Amino acid sequence: MRVLGIETSCDETAAAVVTEGGDVLSDVVRSQVALHAPYGGVVPEVAARDHARAVVPVVREALSRAGVAAADLDGVAVTSRPGLAGALLVGLQAAKGLAWAAGKPLVGVDHLVGHLLAVFLRRGGAPPPEERPSFPYIALLASGGHTAIYRVDGPSLGAIRELGATRDDAAGEAFDKVAKLLGLGYPGGPVVDRLAATGDPAAASEAVPAVMARKESLEFSFSGIKSAVARHVARRGRPEGQALHDLCAAFQGAVVDALVQKTVRAARVEGVERVVLGGGVAANRGLRARMAAACERRGLALFVPPFASCTDNGAMIAYAGALRLAAGERDALDLAPETRTALPRVTRKGGGAR
Ligand code: KG4
Ligand code: ZN
Repeated sequence: MRVLGIETSCDETAAAVVTEGGDVLSDVVRSQVALHAPYGGVVPEVAARDHARAVVPVVREALSRAGVAAADLDGVAVTSRPGLAGALLVGLQAAKGLAWAAGKPLVGVDHLVGHLLAVFLRRGGAPPPEERPSFPYIALLASGGHTAIYRVDGPSLGAIRELGATRDDAAGEAFDKVAKLLGLGYPGGPVVDRLAATGDPAAASEAVPAVMARKESLEFSFSGIKSAVARHVARRGRPEGQALHDLCAAFQGAVVDALVQKTVRAARVEGVERVVLGGGVAANRGLRARMAAACERRGLALFVPPFASCTDNGAMIAYAGALRLAAGERDALDLAPETRTALPRVTRKGGGAR
């Protein structure tokens, strides 16, 4: 089975052709980062307009690199939720047009399910079996838009359970906001990661509180640490030189600690021995190193997909769609975009005691 996947939920226009076994035949990602950088974050209307310009060339490129025509496809998969409504609509219209014109089945994919299954993608030949986890596994998904821990018992929506999520900002969003406060540009993750590598977290620890270290909770909150950095900058001005590196190291260390602690706790509570990372924050070197050490200590097997599979891409959508098609599922041409995930959520957004 060869399935085309189209992803336009946020700020990447992406398309890919993937087999039911997860082999990536092509994977084209066109990032809008430069377009949104002047605003320090994604501007929804700007995103939708750019998707409309890019989606047809990106789909053509994905088909041509895979060496397949629309007529050769077994189906068209598209991110239908969650995401920016206008941005999702562009991908949906493209997918519907192509599916209808080529007479192929259409399947909508929940973007989060795509991320959670991206670990099964095979790029450039099959990896050895130990690089692909078996079910169930605990997945930490940390990106600019989402941060949550899931128990994944299988690939279908009903087999995936959120164990805890952020109550406010996503982890990547916290990196982006702190980078903006520090005058480091957008997106913030990669530059904070780089500066943190030569910083001393202890030297700036008074500026940065621990992140929701509280007891048995599997929830996160990153808005407090962002506010602490904002107060620090308001009092002392933007740090420079080594002090900037130290502050980045302290901030990153606190975020990473929370992500690692809660993920490992989830594995223990659920009695699951496999841990999978996903989302753009999975590129963070501090997170990779500390998660690897924590898993090693507790005898957990850690699976970290290559960066191209962690960030937003069409291949994970094509793969999740291929599994839906293989299960005999399909959607009608009136499939509508939804801004929220279809996965049941246990964490309520917003502050307050609970
Ligand atoms: O998954 P992604 O490409 O897009 C979505 O948000 O869905 O993730 C982008 C996020 C941004 O917030 C970016 O700052 C963060 O991932 N990021 C990182 C790193 N690379 C990207 N965060 C921390 N460390 C990194 N090395
Ligand atoms: Zn994403």
